[in-house]
Amino acid sequence: MCGIFAYLNYQVPRTRKEIFETLVKGLQRLEYRGYDSAGVAVDGSAKNNEKDANNNICLIKQKGKVKNLDEELYKKGTLDLDEELQTHSGIAHTRWATHGEPSPVNSHPHRSDKNNEFVVIHNGIITNYKELKKYLNSKGYEFESETDTEVIPKLIKYVYDNREKEHVSFSTLVERVIQQLEGAFALVFKSIHFPGEAVATRRGSPLLIGVRSQFELTSQHIPIKYSGNKSDGVQEKNSRNRAESVGEQQDLMDMKAVEYYFASDASAIIEHTNKVIYLEDDDIAAVINGKLSLHRVNRKTGEESVRAIQTLQMELQQIMKGNFDAFMQKEIFEQPESVVNTMRGRICFEASKVILGGLKDHLKEIKRCRRLIMIGCGTSFHAAVATRQILEELTELPVMVELASDFLDRYTPVFRDDVCFFISQSGETADTLMALRYCKDRGALTVGITNTVGSSISRETTCGVHINAGPEIGVASTKAYTSQFVALIMFGLMMSEDRISMQKRREEIITGLRDLPDMIKKVLELDPKIKCSAEELYQQKSLLVMGRGFNYATCLEGALKIKEITYMHSEGILAGELKHGPLALIDKHMPVIMVIMRDGCYTKCQNALQQVTARQGKPIIICSQDDQETIKSAYTTIELPHTVDCLQGILSVIPLQLMSFHLAVLRGFDVDCPRNLAKSVTVE
Ligand code: G6P
Repeated sequence: MCGIFAYLNYQVPRTRKEIFETLVKGLQRLEYRGYDSAGVAVDGSAKNNEKDANNNICLIKQKGKVKNLDEELYKKGTLDLDEELQTHSGIAHTRWATHGEPSPVNSHPHRSDKNNEFVVIHNGIITNYKELKKYLNSKGYEFESETDTEVIPKLIKYVYDNREKEHVSFSTLVERVIQQLEGAFALVFKSIHFPGEAVATRRGSPLLIGVRSQFELTSQHIPIKYSGNKSDGVQEKNSRNRAESVGEQQDLMDMKAVEYYFASDASAIIEHTNKVIYLEDDDIAAVINGKLSLHRVNRKTGEESVRAIQTLQMELQQIMKGNFDAFMQKEIFEQPESVVNTMRGRICFEASKVILGGLKDHLKEIKRCRRLIMIGCGTSFHAAVATRQILEELTELPVMVELASDFLDRYTPVFRDDVCFFISQSGETADTLMALRYCKDRGALTVGITNTVGSSISRETTCGVHINAGPEIGVASTKAYTSQFVALIMFGLMMSEDRISMQKRREEIITGLRDLPDMIKKVLELDPKIKCSAEELYQQKSLLVMGRGFNYATCLEGALKIKEITYMHSEGILAGELKHGPLALIDKHMPVIMVIMRDGCYTKCQNALQQVTARQGKPIIICSQDDQETIKSAYTTIELPHTVDCLQGILSVIPLQLMSFHLAVLRGFDVDCPRNLAKSVTVE
């Protein structure tokens, strides 16, 4: 949901062209977050221009994907691309529209005034922007866009213009601005008054800073300077007034040449450096004369007073498409490895033992709970639906599955003896995060199931499991789903370890998990056949996906994949509900996919099949390869290897992932960047 990227080179000469290339590459890595418009701000050049180059910010913005912006950059004849800039700060943004349609004027960076004195990029939503806008309007500030963001550059100029002659540092200005903001934000600022400097801050939206230097970093931590009130008793004694304290902050390092990269996520940074600092809410990071310092207003009791410089574990190749046409396709084909990575070091197949390091210290408490509540959005919610039945069986606890938005709308009762799971690939989804805070306030134990180390959900939950599926770039989630599925099954296995009556069942599931990667490979071999089915279906308007029991979630998830990237109407239908409405849709023209597996629902699924074929429906059936009865009576089948009932959903979803991919390609759509969607939805 909007990607922000900024690049600051200090005493590292870069041509303007190289700076553009770095900014554009950064945006391309973040494009999955939003892609309806993009923009950059750099120092302008004096080529054929009477203005002072150092005192002139040039804004270039374009509707559409980052490649449109890239073309635009080189069309702007006024910029001297070959000019070498010793020190420079550039900011860039790719947008997912919330306030105002995609257009150059609504794109970021937004500016304070026609002279571009302050420019800013923003990810998130400012909820009190109307009040701020009214106030700034009354002070004579004129707005040009329909966005919530524009109040921010206007406000910083207002604070700057009213600073009463005191020397105010850039980061103090930003501190004063964010004290007025409500909502969620990650921000990076640039200003003609502070050339070569950058200030970044966040609250509720992710932001990290990469550091690259040919010198060794002198420290593993950056101290935080506090400048707030003294009433909490933990503020450092030597804190002076804010303007001074920023100037006196301790430096990250004292080096001659350094480059900084600010980004919404690590995928935009990893090709430059693996040394990063994750900012926390209300941290203000400032780079002045090449030195990075951190600043906060108040220190809360118990809060860390340093931020660690972390080493990213991600590999560049993980975020490249390789030989595949789309990230989504690559991620579907990665599943034999990604499920192994989820299980790695956690399952001992010989001893039938599962240890989830992030949960083991809380296991006793979890076992004492009265209820499990699993909360997520989109695909992550489906992972909860998929594992609910086996978790009920293995834990013998009631399990509720909840869509985060609805859970909040209902003010669902939550108690101290509930254990609440927050399932989220990104770990940043606003609704899921709000639900987490809601449950924490009510005293429940909170567990995060996320794919993103350092994300808000993984930091704010009591304990959790990282699914370790590797970066997922395609907007339509695929490998994260199967890894969430595996992680939740492992949780059930860990909970049931001391139940003698369940040992046989546990062993059967653990053996199934051991064999899973090979089985996934076999399913992926069906790709050519699935492509043929897609060729028959791609001109249809609608596609129904039916199943029940352990495979109901497959239908929901398959239908979601289809609507997300093919724009066909698609519905996941619980076969048990067929007679209560959906059967009215069935005739010889209605495309139907049915999932019929050899499990406890087999006979009931066969009944549903009869009801469909009796109305001249010709379903494509996803079934077990040993199910001759279904195979011989079906119009078309996609035959899967047979595994344990509760794991079968991991295999049965893959043909639908592949089907949606092929349908989207045949229909001519951009698989990785479906219209109107974004991967990480950081607005409620
Ligand atoms: C968005 C994405 C979906 C995703 C959902 C939840 O809607 O487009 O693919 O399933 O958010 O995201 P999360 O990161 O919380 O799993």
